[in-house]
Amino acid sequence: MTDPILTLRVAEVTPETDDAVSVSFETGGDGELRYRPGQFLTLRVPAPDGWAARCYSLSSAPGDTRPTVTVKRVPGGIASNWICARLRPGDTVEALPPAGRFTPAPGHRDLLLFAAGSGITPVMSILRARAREGGTAVLVYANRDERSVIFADELRRLTEAHPDRIQVVHWLETLHGLPDPGRLAALARPFAGADAAMLCGPAPFMRAAAEALHQLGVDRARVLTEEYQSLASDPFASLCAAPRTPPAADDAATATVTVELDGERRTLPWPARTTLLDLLRARNLDAPFSCREGACSACACRVVGGEVKLLRNTVLEEEDLAEGYVLACQAIPLTDHVEVVYD
Ligand SMILES: Cc1cc2nc3c(=O)[nH]c(=O)nc-3n(C[C@H](O)[C@H](O)[C@H](O)COP(=O)(O)OP(=O)(O)OC[C@H]3O[C@@H](n4cnc5c(N)ncnc54)[C@H](O)[C@@H]3O)c2cc1C
Ligand code: FES
Repeated sequence: MTDPILTLRVAEVTPETDDAVSVSFETGGDGELRYRPGQFLTLRVPAPDGWAARCYSLSSAPGDTRPTVTVKRVPGGIASNWICARLRPGDTVEALPPAGRFTPAPGHRDLLLFAAGSGITPVMSILRARAREGGTAVLVYANRDERSVIFADELRRLTEAHPDRIQVVHWLETLHGLPDPGRLAALARPFAGADAAMLCGPAPFMRAAAEALHQLGVDRARVLTEEYQSLASDPFASLCAAPRTPPAADDAATATVTVELDGERRTLPWPARTTLLDLLRARNLDAPFSCREGACSACACRVVGGEVKLLRNTVLEEEDLAEGYVLACQAIPLTDHVEVVYD
């Protein structure tokens, strides 16, 4: 198993607005960082009582010169203020590999995107990829005022370069008031037939956009959301701890699991009280993860046979669960045999 902790060297810190910066990392050394548009990194930053881990979406797209995250200060926030105020070129930061399911599927040709504030970050990655690879995208982008619009110039450049494929509708609270479902629905109505709708931003904005899509009759199965929250635990700490030994199959209730990961299928004994992620990592398999607390979906995989129980889940929605998606970091077996696929 490769060491999941990456050491990234900061190449550039670029102010985007008064309270947001983009941080680009050197490539090379460990090789290219492989990610999909809309995925995030988990960074380890100093905190008053030790370390904190926080997820930051990549705003760059695969193929860009440097992988880049974009961070907006949260008043009183530990990590965002440290990154915006202290990080300099040449510094190194520890990170977990790119993860996350907020990424268009191959069949998603036409996208309807809703972003607000720093929620633009994964959406920018998706737009940059679209510009290069094809497909259409309409973005409804809400901000407090003109000064707070992250990536204003680049969005203008993208829409000018691809007027037939990329469209951006700005919503400024100083001009239009707070976004509400009725007016968001009116804006989005011509694009409601998109293959997928993707939402990222503060909770009230996400609720308004989701309600707008509901009013437009957009099937919930076509809606992807990325919710920002701070991790409560430090996933790096468990990785730095003593090497893990495979969990003992010590109870009568041991199941088996067949896992398809990185193109290989393996069948393993699965002790009833061990989470799937712990099992796979103890067996030296490169299963992805970030928070380990059921909050980020980095560890999501699909159950295609048998059943599991999720100990905690604050991120997958009913529709995800109905499609068989589960969180490996929270999954324990319910049936004697379970089949799992990492897409
Ligand atoms: C998948 C994902 C992707 C993300 N992508 C991005 C991104 O691209 N860009 C971005 O800017 N952010 C992103 N985030 C959010 C980011 O991870 C952090 O949550 C955010 O930067 C705030 O972290 P912080 O350490 O600065 O604030 P925190 O220290 O976590 O504080 C957050 C807020 O809570 C308050 N607070 C903290 N502790 C307490 C307490 N004990 N009592 C009361 N209030 C308290 C703080 O004052 C602050 O207002 C993403 C999150 C996720 C899960
Ligand atoms: S690692 Fe975050 S939900 Fe499992």
